[in-house]
Amino acid sequence: MRAKIIGTGSCLPDKIATNDYLSTIVDTNDEWIQSRTGIQERHLVSSEAENTLSMAVKAAQRALLDADVLPEQLDLILVATVSSDFITPSTACMIQKELNACHATAFDINAACSGFLFALNTVDAYFQTGIYQTALIIGVETLSKIINWSDRSTCVLFGDGAGAVVAKASEEGILASLQGSDGTKGDILICKNRTNNNPYITTETNPDFLFMNGQEVFKFAVTKEPECIQSLLNQAKINASEVDYYLLHQANYRIIASIARKLKLPLEKFPINVDHCGNTSAASIPILLDEVNKAGKLEEGSLLLLSGFGAGLTWGAVLLKW
Ligand code: COA
Repeated sequence: MRAKIIGTGSCLPDKIATNDYLSTIVDTNDEWIQSRTGIQERHLVSSEAENTLSMAVKAAQRALLDADVLPEQLDLILVATVSSDFITPSTACMIQKELNACHATAFDINAACSGFLFALNTVDAYFQTGIYQTALIIGVETLSKIINWSDRSTCVLFGDGAGAVVAKASEEGILASLQGSDGTKGDILICKNRTNNNPYITTETNPDFLFMNGQEVFKFAVTKEPECIQSLLNQAKINASEVDYYLLHQANYRIIASIARKLKLPLEKFPINVDHCGNTSAASIPILLDEVNKAGKLEEGSLLLLSGFGAGLTWGAVLLKW
């Protein structure tokens, strides 16, 4: 049995920060941001009540409704995030409590922007072994809390949000998948956790923010992601043109356009939400999938290829039948 996605949902905070608004905070402008990234605006949490858990729960409830599945029917909840509200309990366990998904096992996965794909692959592996049959998979980020809002090279790029899917063990669904990691290049995109001040160690306790070597990440993305997609297509013996939609991690419009060029495919096959969401890390692919699904673009049997890359470094791709 393989994982078949039977429902989607998403949640974006109401507050929209436009490029013009950001140019009142840091030395930037709409022209620079749009021409370098394709981003016009992003959603940001704007009250204490809005956080990783609240967005994840809303996205999850919408996906469950779409799938016509009750929380108590879930036997697995996986959350991909690098921005949990708590170190422990996991966001997945907190969602389980909020939904009253009393029969589920719940845990988080940290694979940064590849996290949703890694979670989907983990669910698929569990389904193949027969251990679980019905899963909720959520990608959620409140990246705005780990961004340095005085660093113009990163603060304009990211946004907050959540995307969720419900997957069921079925004869058909995921057709093939690939994932990988290269920890040796991890230092080009990092965010340190809290420092240790135990009785033996005295450390500066300044909060650490996300640091990124943008050009190195860009080079990695435009090389690794098309390679990964091509390997997956070869593995599945499918022509690039047979895939109906490529749902790629939404980090930068130029990265997506470069991948489309390398695969010699029209941009119409590459739905975009980076323009209005920015980079929402683990949430970007499930939010995009929900947008495409709710826009009525998917039919039974549509072929979708989901792919992304991120900190770690990590990358992955999943080919599935809708
Ligand atoms: N507004 C205006 N100017 C800015 C700016 C901003 N928001 N951010 C950086 N700049 C400036 C830089 O200071 C630099 O100025 P200088 O030439 O005077 O030193 C200039 O713009 C060029 O900076 P550079 O970093 O070379 O720009 P770039 O063309 O590489 O674009 C990124 C930067 C971040 C958009 C690009 O590298 C990128 O998209 N990388 C991948 C990021 C990514 O995908 N991250 C997510 C991984 S999951």
